[in-house]
Amino acid sequence: MVSFTTCVYIVLLGFGGLVRSYYTEPYRPQFHFSPQQNWMNDPNGLLYFNGTYHLFYQYNPNGTTWGFMSWGHAISTDLVHWQHLSIALECESDSNGNVLQMFFSGSAVVDVDNTSGFAVPVGKDRHGHVIYSQPMIAIYTSNYPTAHNQSNGVVIRAGQQSQSIAYSNDNGLTWTQYEGNPVIESPPPQYADQYQQFRDPFVFWHQPSSKWIMVASLAMKQILLIYSSDNLKNWTLESQFGPANARFGQWECPSIFPLYLDGNMQEEKWVLLMGINPGGVITASGSQYIVGSFNGTTFVADPSNVYDPTQIPAGSTVFQDFEEISSTFEEIGWNSTGDFAGLGPQNASTVQVWNIEGCLGIGVLTTYLFGDIATGTITSPTFNITNSYISFLIAGGYYPYNPSTAGTPDDNQVSFSLVVGGQIVYSETGTDTEDLVWRNWNVAGYIGQEAYLLVTDVNTGPFAHLHVDEIIFCNTPKNEANWFDFGPDLYAAATYNGLSVPDRTVIGWMNNWGYGQNIPTSPWRSAMSVPRNLALKTINSVVRLVQQPVPSLSSLYTSTLYSRWFTTLPSGETTINVPSPYNTQMKLSVTFKRGSGTKFGVILRSNATDTQETVIGYDFLGQSVFVDRFKAGDNSFVNWQPNPFPGRYVATLPIPSSNTITLNIFLDWSSVEVFDSTGQVAITSQIFPLDASAMVKLFSVGGTTKDLAVTVNGIKSSWTS
Ligand code: FRU
Repeated sequence: MVSFTTCVYIVLLGFGGLVRSYYTEPYRPQFHFSPQQNWMNDPNGLLYFNGTYHLFYQYNPNGTTWGFMSWGHAISTDLVHWQHLSIALECESDSNGNVLQMFFSGSAVVDVDNTSGFAVPVGKDRHGHVIYSQPMIAIYTSNYPTAHNQSNGVVIRAGQQSQSIAYSNDNGLTWTQYEGNPVIESPPPQYADQYQQFRDPFVFWHQPSSKWIMVASLAMKQILLIYSSDNLKNWTLESQFGPANARFGQWECPSIFPLYLDGNMQEEKWVLLMGINPGGVITASGSQYIVGSFNGTTFVADPSNVYDPTQIPAGSTVFQDFEEISSTFEEIGWNSTGDFAGLGPQNASTVQVWNIEGCLGIGVLTTYLFGDIATGTITSPTFNITNSYISFLIAGGYYPYNPSTAGTPDDNQVSFSLVVGGQIVYSETGTDTEDLVWRNWNVAGYIGQEAYLLVTDVNTGPFAHLHVDEIIFCNTPKNEANWFDFGPDLYAAATYNGLSVPDRTVIGWMNNWGYGQNIPTSPWRSAMSVPRNLALKTINSVVRLVQQPVPSLSSLYTSTLYSRWFTTLPSGETTINVPSPYNTQMKLSVTFKRGSGTKFGVILRSNATDTQETVIGYDFLGQSVFVDRFKAGDNSFVNWQPNPFPGRYVATLPIPSSNTITLNIFLDWSSVEVFDSTGQVAITSQIFPLDASAMVKLFSVGGTTKDLAVTVNGIKSSWTS
């Protein structure tokens, strides 16, 4: 028999052990939300109610890859410390194990006025009047894998996606599905064939029209449908939006919300935020936003926020559009080697380019010749850089130029690069699509210098080809989209209902469908980004959606662990001492000016020989922030080609008139998020370094960096503190 004292002892030991070891597995995020175990994707039903932030999320209760999708649930009072609750909406199967209903992404609201009729009496006030609950309503996509007849008579087709609702009268702890589900069974008649690709309803209360508004996605059509309702049960289609901007992939998880421009309450604007997969800024998943207006029925994008891919900016010079499809590269002044020797531009329709209209003609430069096996180089004539930007169309497989393997047997690049002074200063690869998309390089810092363009294809593997077209020199960049985050790991971003207009808080899934189910974590897979606050700011006369981590994150900061001013930081690397364990979980802020050098930055999760490192920096010539995870750690969990994981991510950030740049870097055990102080740059990137790689270094390239202030705060674990 176990005595009472032994019992107490075991409990205490168990509890003590639990606290010490809780959330300490390799790569376990310390200040990001992750489920205790199993697979997670999109944040769902973000709702602030009665002082509590609810976070529901796509969750597989049965495994560490996608499946059996349910809504997991956690709550917080500060967006920093999370308490796990039991599953809110759990995947349903029949007695034979056929899955009948998965709960896909959606949103949640509080029905304050009981428009839905789901409220229940909870007591009486002092006058004897009945007080009713304020029900929480979840609006989600019912994904029905198996054809069946519902008990309410609705006939469900296999693979159908419909919009449904469930309600809770106990603050989200338990949920009841509405017996009339689904509330929107099918897309409108003209899109009837899209019944398997109709999902992710975001609902909010629109005060001016006293209606509920829903935006849901026809994912494969890149169309968002806007509905209205008086009671959350009957919905009327009001309008549609799209395709626009990044549109070669599925549009998923849309949301729409107001913000004040530059903090001016008289100037309300509306933002559409959505995921695109594939077709993101790097490869696979990405997030874009569009600013415009919303009148209660229709979203109209600001003209400055929609980019017509067939228009090139006024005043730009076409350097090369590859229309000479019967000439060789040599005849148009270019050079070609290897399998490309003697060849020239090709007819786009014969070489696997998908959006032909994108190439503004018929000709294209391609390395897709005799299939993917062709290798060699194609080089432009030398030119003088005269404009601030070089913009171009690009498509193909993701095989980035990696400076540390270039020219070695491990080189696998299929890249398009800008060479200045004999150095590759910019390089782009495909985004794993055959659709030509616009990309641009800020070359203001190189004006007056000689340069050339270089296509290098050393790869014969799957998708190992590139298409390039319409190379223009311009003074405003030719954009494809407003990217919400310039890294690979921010998807399905969702915002909180229940906060006031200026307090728009967003959480993104910090992963990517391109490799997300393979990341080397166990027993959980995927984390959320840090919650971020959004605002709309006019920057250089363009309206931008800007973001910063929520201020409450600072409650986890330790006192300053390192703080130093460098009037000049010398060229080369300078190791700084950040004590363990905070060398792997910290906020590192740097404020700096250009000295005689060309790049400044920070190396994190590094070892003494720099064979492992995550490099974050600013390029003064390219006027851009970068994150380089080529050597950040494990990427062997991807065992196919192209491997979408390694890479270098770049976001333009013009040098302001103060000449001073500030970057705030949030490092956790398997991620890094970089924000600039204006909020226009966010780069979110997972990393999987060895525990032993924990050195912190500063670097300056090609000369000094000036007036550098470095401050490091550790970030305590939100799970044990
Ligand atoms: C986006 C997504 C959504 C869908 C959910 C399913 O990541 O594909 O469109 O609702 O995941 O888990």
